[in-house]
Amino acid sequence: MTGGHLQIVVCGADPAAEVSKLVRAAQSQSWTAAVTATPSAMNFIEPQSLESLTGHPVRSTYQSSPGTRRSLPATDALVIAPATYNSINKIALGLADNYAMTSVAELIGRQVPTVIVPFVNAALAARAPFRHAVANLRDEGVRVLLGPDDQWEPHPPGSGNEQQKAFPWTVAFDTAAQLAQEPRTAATGQL
Ligand SMILES: Cc1cc2nc3c(=O)[nH]c(=O)nc-3n(C[C@H](O)[C@H](O)[C@H](O)COP(=O)(O)O)c2cc1C
Repeated sequence: MTGGHLQIVVCGADPAAEVSKLVRAAQSQSWTAAVTATPSAMNFIEPQSLESLTGHPVRSTYQSSPGTRRSLPATDALVIAPATYNSINKIALGLADNYAMTSVAELIGRQVPTVIVPFVNAALAARAPFRHAVANLRDEGVRVLLGPDDQWEPHPPGSGNEQQKAFPWTVAFDTAAQLAQEPRTAATGQL
């Protein structure tokens, strides 16, 4: 698919500071992009530079700036990256306790092709709630980039800085763009 609109949701982990790499990957393929941040993620990003880059305000609350539409724009794909332990567990449970989580809940419900790129250490990833969350999201049709097949593994506790350098921004976009190209299943009613 050439061109489309990518919705990006960033969570509160260090790679969030580099989310412009995902925006640029999308723009290089003639996609537009907009960034939504969890409240925690606002401590990791530079909203103004992202707004200049995307041409869209960074949304984190229900409050919209003047001229901003309240409803979600038409979205061809959703990438949640970096996705924290906290948000992944919440998304799997369907919790909508902030603007970002509400947007995610609705976009997944609308069958928008969705890619999640976790950034979690191995201790958190070993927890049963997290493993169940990943399995449940995959069952729901969400693409979670995690594990040997995706060449993206949880890092040992304390080694996040090294792992951040390898964060798969381009793979995340390419995967989302590929999903956006695939016909939806008949069950979604969107064939
Ligand atoms: C400096 C810093 C780095 C963090 N890194 C991570 C991380 O890599 N992965 C993670 O799951 N949580 C990390 N956290 C914890 C999350 O920010 C915390 O769980 C927060 O509640 C996540 O909120 P969110 O999921 O709404 O973004 C970090 C927190 C801080 C302060």
